[in-house]
Amino acid sequence: MVAGVFDSGVGGLTVLKSLVEAKLFEKIIYFGDTARVPYGAKDKNTIIRYSLEALEFFSNFDIDIFIVACNSASAYAIKELREVSTIPVVGVIESGVLALNQIKISKDSSILIIGTKATINSNKYINLLNKHGFYNITSKATGLFVPLVEEGIFGGAILNETLKHYFSDLKKPDIVILGCTHFPLISKEIDNYFGGVKLIHSGEAIVKYLNNNYIKESILFEQTKLEFFASENPAGLKEVANRWLF
Ligand code: DGL
Repeated sequence: MVAGVFDSGVGGLTVLKSLVEAKLFEKIIYFGDTARVPYGAKDKNTIIRYSLEALEFFSNFDIDIFIVACNSASAYAIKELREVSTIPVVGVIESGVLALNQIKISKDSSILIIGTKATINSNKYINLLNKHGFYNITSKATGLFVPLVEEGIFGGAILNETLKHYFSDLKKPDIVILGCTHFPLISKEIDNYFGGVKLIHSGEAIVKYLNNNYIKESILFEQTKLEFFASENPAGLKEVANRWLF
């Protein structure tokens, strides 16, 4: 099986890493829309248009499944993508909520969702969580974490101040949904800030979801072939991939 993975930029490499580690695919083609990142500050129609263009890009390749690694695109564009796609389209929000639903926790667990403005304003996570019976939910746009991670800041004073800025008025939640591709890279710091919480990571969630819904054979691909494309500076994307993935 060959997967196409799409993100607004380099952040989706965190999802790619989980897919590679799970050995589910013979080949993965990654496309980062680096020329137009960030999506998280853009409006719904723009995010839909960009996502459809990304799907169009993948029409040049023979892929079996289109994986939207970007939470902001998953928040707004899945329906539109599915309407035009001839292959399955899988986003990270549905899989994140299902992953949470699979762990045995009570429905009154306190859940904190963090993501970009686009993801949080879409209410996609909250609506899906409500459908599964969870109601004790707080959501917060924490967009500053994105440029920090892009800058390679994974710890230290600036990150600590940003954690305080966003979280100091919150009670410790039971679960934090990392609703943005970049946040797994600072998951330890988020966990430490709250003094130990259960974290939901889009990459791990999508692996579970794919295993349950799409992967029919139990073949494990020890070496997933990878191809990287970007709408701007593909060499930069490859360089980040080498740093983050291997
Ligand atoms: N990939 C985006 C997301 O997961 C984060 C970066 C952006 O804003 O484009 O929401």
